[in-house]
Amino acid sequence: MEIVVFGAGSLGSLVGGLLAGTHDVTLVGRSAHMRAIEADGLTVGGAVETTVRPRTTTDSEGLSGDVVLVTVKAGDTATAAEALSTGSFNTVCSLQNGFTEETLVAELSVPVLAGTVTYGARLREPGHVDCTGRGTVTLGPYTEDSAADDAAAAERAAAVGEAFRAADIETDVRENMAKQRWEKLAVNAAINPVTALARVENGAVCEEPLWPVARRAARETAAVARASGVDLSDDTAVEAVRTVAASTAANRSSMLQDVDAGRVTEIEAINGAVVERGAQYGVDVPTNRLLTALVNGSKPR
Ligand code: PAF
Repeated sequence: MEIVVFGAGSLGSLVGGLLAGTHDVTLVGRSAHMRAIEADGLTVGGAVETTVRPRTTTDSEGLSGDVVLVTVKAGDTATAAEALSTGSFNTVCSLQNGFTEETLVAELSVPVLAGTVTYGARLREPGHVDCTGRGTVTLGPYTEDSAADDAAAAERAAAVGEAFRAADIETDVRENMAKQRWEKLAVNAAINPVTALARVENGAVCEEPLWPVARRAARETAAVARASGVDLSDDTAVEAVRTVAASTAANRSSMLQDVDAGRVTEIEAINGAVVERGAQYGVDVPTNRLLTALVNGSKPR
């Protein structure tokens, strides 16, 4: 399958690197990283060890392939969608944090899939990504409505899932991602700002004194999901946080890495999205509001 990975940072490079052993992969990313890969290939280390030679480019216009995997930061989705609209793809699949699929659907006229990845990834240096933990990819047609039926998107999801499995990536294909998207939002709403503000690894959110804060953020997210018509219980959301935090206990969340590097965080696409939708459905979400304000108001380090 011809696969374009749009946004070859840590996660994009890892997923692209794993796929490149089996498929025709093009990575779109920053110049130093792309130049290093052109010169010596992409080295994947850690839980998976391989060196592969995907195609690379820094030019985001006029790209083509069977599928484009979108792995840019949530805040860069609108710019990515605009660039992708100049190219040609059969399927678009977001593997991002936050609710980004809406922006892709608005700009692109091909089926949009939503995906979640529980692999841990860390960009060690240009040309070298570490897999800090094997995980699972879950993907399926994007829809807000858990009863929606889009045959074309389902067919594309099955094909993309098959391509991931052929590259030895454990992949779960769902009929739709409505519930999964909210569950993942609850996980990110609980783990990302708490780890970024407290400056701790993911495992610490399950312990006192942080756990009550993380649990409240997840419960509020589940309440908004239910108000929007998605049947996500408080217990399921809280259990998902516990499971992900435990399986990534030693990882530094992407938001902690962003804060440390002085980069813009994904707070608006995560807790900000809970606040926005909470207001839309009349659900009060004080913990998510507070976490959003604290991350937005933090001084760059
Ligand atoms: O953003 C992240 O870091 C990840 O989505 C997660 C699940 C919190 C694990 O670190």
